[in-house]
Amino acid sequence: MRTELSFASLAGLETELLAVLAVDTQTDKGTDAKPIPELLTSDQAARQAASAVIGSGEFKAGANETLLLHGPHGLNAKRLLIVGLGKQAKATVHSVRSAAGTAVRFAKPRGIRELVFALPASEFLASSASARAAAEGAFVGDYDPDTYRSDRKDLSVHSFTAVAAAGADQAAVKSGFAEGVVIGESQNFTRVLVNEPGNVLTPTEFGRRAAAMSKEVGLRCEVHSTEKLHELKMGAFWSVSQGSEEPPALIVMRYEPEGITDGPVLGLVGKGITFDTGGISIKPSDNMEKMKYDMAGGAAMVGAMRAIALLKPRVRVIGIVCASENMPDGKAQKPGDVQTAMPISPDKPGKTIEIINTDAEGRLVLADGITYARQLGATHLIDAATLTGACVVALGTVNGGAFSNDDDSFNKFNGALATSGEKFWRLPLGEEYFEQIRSDIGDIKNTGGRWGGAITAAEFIKVFAEDTPWIHLDIAGLAWIEDSRPYIAKGPSGVGVRSILEWVRSFSA
Ligand code: BES
Ligand code: MN
Ligand code: ZN
Repeated sequence: MRTELSFASLAGLETELLAVLAVDTQTDKGTDAKPIPELLTSDQAARQAASAVIGSGEFKAGANETLLLHGPHGLNAKRLLIVGLGKQAKATVHSVRSAAGTAVRFAKPRGIRELVFALPASEFLASSASARAAAEGAFVGDYDPDTYRSDRKDLSVHSFTAVAAAGADQAAVKSGFAEGVVIGESQNFTRVLVNEPGNVLTPTEFGRRAAAMSKEVGLRCEVHSTEKLHELKMGAFWSVSQGSEEPPALIVMRYEPEGITDGPVLGLVGKGITFDTGGISIKPSDNMEKMKYDMAGGAAMVGAMRAIALLKPRVRVIGIVCASENMPDGKAQKPGDVQTAMPISPDKPGKTIEIINTDAEGRLVLADGITYARQLGATHLIDAATLTGACVVALGTVNGGAFSNDDDSFNKFNGALATSGEKFWRLPLGEEYFEQIRSDIGDIKNTGGRWGGAITAAEFIKVFAEDTPWIHLDIAGLAWIEDSRPYIAKGPSGVGVRSILEWVRSFSA
């Protein structure tokens, strides 16, 4: 999708579709008064063209509600699309992001290949943030997951032009829009990876894609396999990979901005299980096909690294993906096996793990990924993983689970959420939960029983973060969208990319 930013007036723009936003300004609660939509443009021609329908009360400007007018009078656009942001009091840049996605997804099935999107003229929506959100939303809306349909009609929008509101700070709008393009593309990069079936995106192929992307954007990238796992004594990671014919991939991407030689080193660690059968503790067949998305945490890190390389924050970042299949096999690990995780230094012993359930594999690969990130010098850690069904039970598909051993780092992450618009809810950690994963035969067990499953999984990872500030994101409920929404297709969501990027930027010197 080509993107452009224009400062022209709306009336003169020749386009297939001009999208403008509207809010519901009705504030009275509990009355049956009609909603009063307000068009978020000062362009008189556009206001005039929409005035009859706006006055009719038929269009309520609900969030992502759309109304189409053909041949709008006084405009050069062939069609005028009004997109609702919902109640004015609740409308934010996140509503603008969705509205841009809605406009693009409105165009797609109708074969409309180009559209112009009027950025909102409004004192309560910062123009730069709106421009950024609109670009993000347009890319996110443009993605569809039907990659392998033989009759696939690629309905992508070819050209998306945002028009700045009159009087907006042009430089700010420009940089916001340019950022949004990078972020939206990076989120889609992640979604493409997550959507790939397990037979296409093996750990090796995952490594190839990360390496190709890294080359394109100027990141250093190394992809290791079995030998390196043994060399580093990654016994936890290898215990998952040993049951598969497909070799594992340890993907290491490095972003080292020029002139930054001290300060924090951020370690981004992603779970990259390219298919999770459960191993010997095999999963039921129902919905098992979904377990191709068990690498979404890793893919989020790859997408975030792409955006980092292009947006160039002044902080060093190491991205690590632990990619593996989790398969049952003659060589697969068994419940009761004891594994030794990677030691933080060669003179120290690695922690021992009693395997209770081979389906709790994500925490095993992350354990060694986290230790490796620390060994490479990470001072602050964030991990993302489709880790537990328990997290989905707790928070549904609305909020992701977030855990941290460090309030400062977590507060930065919370700030990032305000920008990204993604939703994560902090869940507790604590000594009493750790008791659930104490092992009789070794140091820890890889499951902690029925209760608090998302928390005991986080406690397991925390053992390896030790005293390094660390955030853990459980995205099991968010990484795959079951039903399409007006602004996003069903399928891979690309969750995490925007928030992790923003967290990284909050460390920029
Ligand atoms: N990949 C799954 C978690 C998952 C579940 C992701 C649903 C996406 C949707 C993970 O590896 C897993 O199997 N977790 C087990 C842990 C249990 C054995 C302690 C689970 O949640 O059931
Ligand atoms: Mn599993
Ligand atoms: Zn898994």
